Order: sequence, then C-alpha cells, then structure tokens
Amino acid sequence: MRVDVFTQVPHAFGWLTEQKPLATVLGTELELRLFNYRDTTPLRAGQVDDDPYGGGSGMVLRVDVVDAALAGAYGDEPPARVIALTPQGRQLDQGLVEELAAEPALAILSSRFEGFDARIVDHLCTDAVSIGPYVLSGGELPAMVLLDAVARRLPGALSDESGEVESFSQALDGGIEYPHYTRPPEFRGWSVPEVLLSGNHALIDEWRRDQSRRRSEGAAGERGGGLVGAR
Ligand SMILES: C[S@@+](CC[C@H](N)C(=O)[O-])C[C@H]1O[C@@H](n2cnc3c(N)ncnc32)[C@H](O)[C@@H]1O
Repeated sequence: MRVDVFTQVPHAFGWLTEQKPLATVLGTELELRLFNYRDTTPLRAGQVDDDPYGGGSGMVLRVDVVDAALAGAYGDEPPARVIALTPQGRQLDQGLVEELAAEPALAILSSRFEGFDARIVDHLCTDAVSIGPYVLSGGELPAMVLLDAVARRLPGALSDESGEVESFSQALDGGIEYPHYTRPPEFRGWSVPEVLLSGNHALIDEWRRDQSRRRSEGAAGERGGGLVGAR
C-alpha cells in the first residue's frame, strides 16, 4: 500500500522509518511519501497558516494550502481515503486499523497549533481520526501511531503469527492478550505460573485462553481504570 503523510515536520518521521516492523515492509509492501505543506503553498515565504476569523489565539492551517498540497500530489485523483488527524475525529481502534490497512492508498493530513480550517475536514477529507481523547501539539505523533499500527498488519511485517494473536485481534475475540513471562522462573518470590513450565501445549493454550477471557471481562468492567497492572 502507499501512505502519504502531509506535515509541516517531515523530518520527524526519520526515527519511525528505521524501526521494525515498519522498516521491514518499507519499500516493498509499504511505500511512504512525506509531503511538506510549505513546498506547495501558494503563499509567500512558506506561509501555511493564518489567524482565526472571529479572533482568538493560535494559528489555523489554511484550506488553500492543503488544497495545493493535495493537488500537487494527486492532481484531481486523490486516494479513496484522505484522513485528517484531529482529536475531534473517530477514535482509532484495531477495527479501524484493519480497515485502513486493507486500503491500497491513504493520505494522512496532520496539523499543528489551533488545527485545520474546518473546510479542510469538511470538503477535502473523507475521514477524521483521533488517536485518543486528549490533545497533542501536532499531528506528527498521531500520524506515526497510525502508520505503525497499519504497517504491522501488512504481509511480512511480522516474522511469525505474533500479529494474529494480539490484544483486540479476532483470534482473541477482540479481547486483550494473556500475560507473558520469561526467565527467571522466580524473582523476589514472584513465580511464573507452573502451567507455562509444564511443556503441555494443550494445557498452556487452555490457560492462555482463560487468562485472555478473564482479563477482557475485567477490562470491560473497569473501562477508564486501566486494564491490567494495578496492584
Ligand atoms: C493542538 S491540536 C489542535 C486541537 C484543536 N484546537 C481542538 O481543540 O480540537 C493541533 C493538531 O494536533 C493534531 N492532534 C492533536 N491531538 C490529536 C489527537 N488526539 N488525535 C489526532 N490528532 C491530534 C491534529 O492534527 C491537530 O490539528
């Protein structure tokens, strides 16, 4: 698939492109292009935002600037999904990640400061997506969150079935994953559950399913309170 990110800070993505599993699929299953609004702005001196009508603090990303960026990248044939990243959008979850990972192409628009001129979201985008009910300073981290989550779902991103049996996956009926342990088998009196040391894979599978079910039920009853880890 091809993912195009529109941003004022393209160099922010350098770190992500070196990280697995995204780095594994980059150049094969994933083509990533970074577009800087400043490169195509029709305004002078690289201007991309402006004061809000009606007054107030903060700058607003201009609709003509985003339109020029999209026209520069696509002419009049944008991809089927043009996504504005905004805390006001549909909240990202694994279902939406799977949906987006199945698309051949995505355009992801980020903003900074006060955000988008509303006409960008209303007329130039097909989707508005939030990574959670809190406000970050810019869309670069949300774009990286979305990119990483989508890249994990592309063929060959993960070397084994680890992407199939994970929290929120169909394999676990959308629930959360069972706990993992590694060496040492005992630390400060905290022991690894014996069944995991038994070598009996049928029993281990059963125990894991049961743990996943219990944790998921617990999580459903404790929404907002954290899923696991409370002592
Ligand atoms: C400071 S925020 C603007 C917040 C906006 N004034 C509001 O109150 O909804 C600047 C930009 O960061 C990005 N952003 C911040 N929080 C986000 C979130 N939770 N999900 C997705 N994007 C977010 C968006 O691109 C947003 O336009």
